[in-house]
Amino acid sequence: MLSANDNQYLTQVGPGTAMGSSLRHYWIPAILSTELPAINAAPLDIRLLGEDLTAFRSGDGSVGLVQSNCPHRGAPLYYGRPEDGGIRCAYHGWMFDTAGRCIDMPNEPEESNFKDKVTVAAYPCVERNGVVWAYMGPDVPPPPLPDLEWNLVPAPQSYVTKRIENCNFMQAMEGEIDSSHSAFLHSSLTNDVFTTPVAVKLVRSKGERYRMQDQRPRFQVLDTNAGVMVGASYAAEEESRYWRITQFLLPFHTLIPPYGASPVLSGHAWVPIDDTHTMALCFTYHPSLPLSQEQREILMYQRNGLEGLHPSVDAYEPSPAIPGDATWRTKMKHGGDSRFPIDREFQNTKSFSGLPGVWPQDTAMQEGMGLISNRAREHLGTTDMGIIKVRKRLIAEAHNLANHGATPAGVFNPDQYAIRAASAVVESGSSWVEMTAETRTVQLGVSYDAP
Ligand code: FES
Ligand SMILES: [Fe+2]
Repeated sequence: MLSANDNQYLTQVGPGTAMGSSLRHYWIPAILSTELPAINAAPLDIRLLGEDLTAFRSGDGSVGLVQSNCPHRGAPLYYGRPEDGGIRCAYHGWMFDTAGRCIDMPNEPEESNFKDKVTVAAYPCVERNGVVWAYMGPDVPPPPLPDLEWNLVPAPQSYVTKRIENCNFMQAMEGEIDSSHSAFLHSSLTNDVFTTPVAVKLVRSKGERYRMQDQRPRFQVLDTNAGVMVGASYAAEEESRYWRITQFLLPFHTLIPPYGASPVLSGHAWVPIDDTHTMALCFTYHPSLPLSQEQREILMYQRNGLEGLHPSVDAYEPSPAIPGDATWRTKMKHGGDSRFPIDREFQNTKSFSGLPGVWPQDTAMQEGMGLISNRAREHLGTTDMGIIKVRKRLIAEAHNLANHGATPAGVFNPDQYAIRAASAVVESGSSWVEMTAETRTVQLGVSYDAP
């Protein structure tokens, strides 16, 4: 549990809050390149860390991210014209570049220098492999982008989606740090219903069998340079245990351990839209091989009416609630105000939860905790050790910044993000940390089999 004060400290992300200030030191995956598909594409209204912003692609191809309302008299820049070098407000034609400078004020006298005194809040953006990252922090120039492998492999090797959770980012992210729920929430009562998170395989691996057979994993948790490493072990063969090592990377990245031969790797960035909405950016990639057409189709479509780890192409409302508001209000068909459909017959006969697939199962639990989970009422058990350590780490980083001016960990060490989640069968007497040291290290283009 956390005191009400600590819970607030942990979950508030707006400008001026301790956690919000800490989060702003990191690059934030803001939108997918496909959402601003072409030069001069229609701008997008997004919200990040509680700030309303407008993203646009200017005539030189670069992405700009500015405050949503024009500094002249507040008209929405969403209606603006993306032009060479910036965006021009539709109301009186003031134009702003991607750095936030007013570069044209066509309704003022030609000799006026008023435009040199007006700026719009603007955040630097960098586009890498289909993801637009934004930097909302104080450092000039900004720190380097983190070496997260999912965003470094070539496009044919990866698949990235996003969905919205109508709750605070912490409780959404905590679902991925807690390995213990899978053997329940995502389990099937029979062998023919496949509802486990790694959707790119049709046969259960040895590791999956160990995991499903032992519902009482034992946890060991360690701080790493830029995060927390959560080891969960399950009974395997005699004299060995099956270890799954989930990685948390500051401030909101999680990496899920793999299963089977030549495995794909998956995980999320849990990007806070505001205190009560989260963009779950989901990735699946192979470190060395392009994803096959079959793998992509499994990721893109429902199977037997069930969703996977990624939202399927059918999981979204056909159009956003407000045109141009495609990013933060991307509507899922279920969740938020409407409950997820639960099939009680399915729950009685085949599926532990009766809920329609992996991410709806997670989201139904997380959104149902309330917009911001009341952690003062929790009763945490031994399988919650990872969550406890991650909370402590985030609070400590925010505290050290607020009280001692210390830059949060990892910000200037992009290489600390070049790690993987891992899994291994470890004989008793051996150390799971040592046994997974190699497979936890990213070597671009190199992949390892998993149990
Ligand atoms: S409100 Fe934007 S130019 Fe006047
Ligand atoms: Fe889950």
